[in-house]
Amino acid sequence: MTVTATPPSSSWPEDVLRLNAVCPYYTMFPLDFPLRQLTAHPKATRVLDPFCGRGTTLYAARLAGLPAVGIDINPVAVAIAQAKLIQVTPSAVVRLARQILDGGMRDTVPEGEFWQWCYERETLRELVTLRETLLEMTTPTAAMLRAVLLGILHGPRNKNLPSYLSNQMPRTYASKPAYAVKFWKKHDMEPVRVPALEVIERRAKRLLDAAPLARGGRVYLGDSVETLNGLQQRFDLVVTSPPYYGMRTYVADQWLRSWFLGGPSDVPYGTQGQIARQPNQEAFIQALGEVWAATARRCRQGARLAIRFGALPSARTNPEQMLLASVKESKAGWVVKDVHQAGTPPKRTRQAQQFGKAGSAVDEIDIVAELIGLPR
Ligand SMILES: C[S@@+](CC[C@H](N)C(=O)[O-])C[C@H]1O[C@@H](n2cnc3c(N)ncnc32)[C@H](O)[C@@H]1O
Repeated sequence: MTVTATPPSSSWPEDVLRLNAVCPYYTMFPLDFPLRQLTAHPKATRVLDPFCGRGTTLYAARLAGLPAVGIDINPVAVAIAQAKLIQVTPSAVVRLARQILDGGMRDTVPEGEFWQWCYERETLRELVTLRETLLEMTTPTAAMLRAVLLGILHGPRNKNLPSYLSNQMPRTYASKPAYAVKFWKKHDMEPVRVPALEVIERRAKRLLDAAPLARGGRVYLGDSVETLNGLQQRFDLVVTSPPYYGMRTYVADQWLRSWFLGGPSDVPYGTQGQIARQPNQEAFIQALGEVWAATARRCRQGARLAIRFGALPSARTNPEQMLLASVKESKAGWVVKDVHQAGTPPKRTRQAQQFGKAGSAVDEIDIVAELIGLPR
C-alpha cells in the first residue's frame, strides 16, 4: 500500500504545476482542496472524481503518485482532464502539430461574420485542419495537443508574442457570437495572423517541460451514475465538486471549445445530461444522492468522500442543507465526519461568475464522509 504525504501547492515548483492550467474551465476548484484530502488520507491508493471538470483532482493524484479516474458529461471537461493523466514531451506535441499542418490544409472553414472576425483566414484554416485531423485521433500525444489547442483557442490579444489564436476574447468562456462581433466592430479590431504552430510550440514547452511523472488512470465521458455502474475498480478516496443547483450552462459557455471537439459552429443551448437540469431542489438532491450511492458501490469500506459545494446567489438555496440531504438520501453507508466553511471562492473560480454576479458569491462548504455501512 502506498503511503504518501502530499505537500500543498505552494511547496511545488511553479513549473511542475503548469500542466494543471492547460485550459481554464468554469468552476474549477483550487488544487489545494484535493491535495489536502490526499494529505489527510495518506493510505489512499486510487482516487475518483465523478464530476471531474478540468481534472484538478486527477492532477493532485498525479502529484501524490496515485492513479485516478475522472468522469464528466461535458466533452470539453473530459478533453482537458485527459491531459492531466498524460505523459508526453513538448517536442512530440509540436511534431504532431507540424505533421498535421504539413499534411495538407483544409479549405472548408465555418462561414459567417463571427468566424470572419474571430480568426484571421489563414489561422482559421490551420485551426480547422488541426480540428478535423484530431477528431480522428486517439493517441496520448493527440489528446495532449487537443488540450493545448483548447487552451489557446481564445483569449486576450497580447501586445508582444501572441498567446491565443483568436481576436480579443475572454479566455475562461467564449463570448456569444453577436456580442463578440459587435465588440470587435465597435473597437475596430480586425483579427491578426497568428501562426498556430508557433503558439503551440511556446505553450507546449511551458506546460510540459517540468510536468510530473504520470501515474495512470482514465477519464470517462458520460453520466456519473451510468459510468460508475460500469466500472470495475475500487477507490478509497473520492474528491469532487458537483455543479451548484441551477448551474447547467457548461456547454453553452464553452461553445467555441465544444466546436473544436466536433460540436456545431454555433452556440448549443442544450443542457445535455447536466445533473443540475432537474426541475426542483428535491429532484436535484435525489439525483446527487444517486451519485453518492453509485460512488459507494465502487468504494472500499473506510473510503473517504470529500465534497465541495456552494450555491448560486440567485438560487436562494442552503448548500450545506442540500448536500447533507443528498448524502443522507443516498442511504449508501456514508457517514459525515466533518462539515466546514470553505470560504468564498476566488472570483475567477466561482460558478456564479458566469451569471455576472460574482460579487455576491455565496460561501462554499466542504464535507467529508466515511464509508462505514455496507453499500447497497
Ligand atoms: C463544479 S464542476 C467540477 C469542476 C472540477 N472540480 C474542476 O476542478 O475542474 C462540475 C462538473 O460536473 C459535470 N457534470 C454535470 N452533470 C454531470 C453528470 N450527470 N455526470 C457527470 N458529470 C456531470 C459538469 O459538466 C461539470 O464539469
